[in-house]
Amino acid sequence: MEVVVTRNIPSAALNVLNKRFKVDLWQSDDIIPRETLISKIKAKDGLLCLLTDKIDKEVLDSAGDRLQAVSTISVGVDHINRSECTMRGIKIGYTPEVLTAATAEFAVGLLLSTSRRIVEGTHAAKRSNSVCFFILCQKYKVTNDVTACVLVLLVDDKTTDRVGTILILRIANFSHSYFFKKDKAFEENLWVHFASFPDLLRESDFIISCCSFNQSTDGVFDKEAFKQMKNSAIFVNIARGGVVNQDDLYDALSRNVIRGAGLDVTTPEPLPTDHPLFTLDNCVVTPHIGSASEKTRTEMTMLAVENLICALENRAMPAQY
Ligand code: GLV
Ligand code: GLV
Repeated sequence: MEVVVTRNIPSAALNVLNKRFKVDLWQSDDIIPRETLISKIKAKDGLLCLLTDKIDKEVLDSAGDRLQAVSTISVGVDHINRSECTMRGIKIGYTPEVLTAATAEFAVGLLLSTSRRIVEGTHAAKRSNSVCFFILCQKYKVTNDVTACVLVLLVDDKTTDRVGTILILRIANFSHSYFFKKDKAFEENLWVHFASFPDLLRESDFIISCCSFNQSTDGVFDKEAFKQMKNSAIFVNIARGGVVNQDDLYDALSRNVIRGAGLDVTTPEPLPTDHPLFTLDNCVVTPHIGSASEKTRTEMTMLAVENLICALENRAMPAQY
């Protein structure tokens, strides 16, 4: 059987695949060009991909009847046309759980670096000798303490709930947490409170988006949403760039409608270096590295490899979407 792998993966993982299949590898750390993917996938039995590869009808058409499984090295599956896969009997594998802790921790990091202006402070320190006067300087006045502030997560389904849950535990010592979701067990087990979306926007000092991207979350953080937030609010996004209307966010940040934003996800990815968001001091942008710890990325890759092998050998995948 033959499989396509769309990125250089660690050699341990590649060796496991090489032992079983003929592997057509895109041997690069860059995103595989779409035309290359479309031609490589012809008559292949399996695909190991990343969230930067759009697996749509055209790609699946090019694959033809042999394709049995798409295994993505990600927990999000919004880049894969799931209904087309279902129609063709193609199984989808993904990587939940192994990245939960790393991603939740990263959200805490973005929250702190944004709210406490760590990145901005670093840049200021490089630019000027006078920043040791920070504490007396209005321009660099620090913002709210994270302690005792309300903290909110937008959580909406079973995969992202795990990240949300761990995140709640990580920040429990900082703050009260509110969830946008109704679930009694959560409320009792995590000592959190639930809020409606408008209340959440109005009352939170920090809003962390960790939902999955779908029709109901497409662009929910828009002009209207930012207007309802406090002027001192910090918005963090570890979900998908698509949950935010980025023009509206730029507008809100540049006109101080909200205080700041920390974004690990953007539209597009990578965000072009001349993007207006990069000109803002109150916006921290990272290149989708929420799960990018050595241990986590290795576990994600091994799980994705295992998913692909099981699917092609007709055994249950450890994590079938
Ligand atoms: C990261 O965003 C993932 O979906 O794994
Ligand atoms: C991802 O969100 C997970 O919890 O697995």
